Amino acid sequence: MVLIKASILAADYTRLGEQVREAQAAGVDGFQVDVMDGSFVPNITFGPGVMRALRPLVNVALEADLMIVAPERHLAAFVEAGADRLIVHQEACPHIHRVLRSIRDMGVEAGVAISPGTPIGVLEEVLDLVDLIQVMTVSPGFGGQTFLHGQLGKIRRLRQWLDERRLDVCIGVDGGINPSTASLVVSAGATALVAGSSLYNEKASVAQNVAALRSSVTKL
Ligand code: DX5
Repeated sequence: MVLIKASILAADYTRLGEQVREAQAAGVDGFQVDVMDGSFVPNITFGPGVMRALRPLVNVALEADLMIVAPERHLAAFVEAGADRLIVHQEACPHIHRVLRSIRDMGVEAGVAISPGTPIGVLEEVLDLVDLIQVMTVSPGFGGQTFLHGQLGKIRRLRQWLDERRLDVCIGVDGGINPSTASLVVSAGATALVAGSSLYNEKASVAQNVAALRSSVTKL
C-alpha cells in the first residue's frame, strides 16, 4: 500500500488546524511537519510547538522532517511534542549512526533523508537503524518546486538495494509529488509520498486533491 502524507508546509497557516482536519477527513495516512532552521536550508518554518498544537487533532502518523543542522539537539523536544517518527537529513549529521540510534532509543521511528546530490551508498552502514529512507525529489528548503526526474533512477536503485538485503524499510519521496509524478515514483519503488502544494492549493479542495493523488497510484 502506498502511503500519502500531507506536508503542512503548503497549508494556510491562518487556519492550520482546519487544514489538517480536512486532509485527515480526506484520508491521508499521515502528516509531515517540515522543520527548517535557515541554516541547513535557506528557509525557516516550524518548531516543536506547532507539532504539539497539531497532535491532539491528528489520529494518523505525525512526523517531523528535520531540515536543520545538529538535529540531535531537538529530538527530545519533537518526541515530547508528539512525533511518531523523526526524519533527519544525512548531510546534516556527521554522526548519523549515533543520531539514528538516539531516535530509536526514544521509542519513535527513525527516518533519514538524502538530497538529490547524495548517493544511496552513504546509508550503507545505517540500514539496520532506519524505518524510512526519504529520497528528496527537490533540493530541500521550499515547497512548490519542480520534481527532479533524475531521482527516479536513485529510487529504483534503492528499491533493488533494499530488496536484495530483504530489508523492510519504507522508501519515501518528498518534493514535487503530484498525480503525474506520483505514478513515476511508485513504479520506481517508492511506498510513501509526501505532498504539500499538490494537496493544498487554489485549484481544488483538499479532498479532491487527495483523491486525485490516491487514484493516480491505486491502479498501478
Ligand atoms: C522541501 C519540502 C517540500 C515539502 C513538499 O524541503 O520538504 O518537499 O515537503 O512540498 P511540495 O509537495 O509542494 O513540493
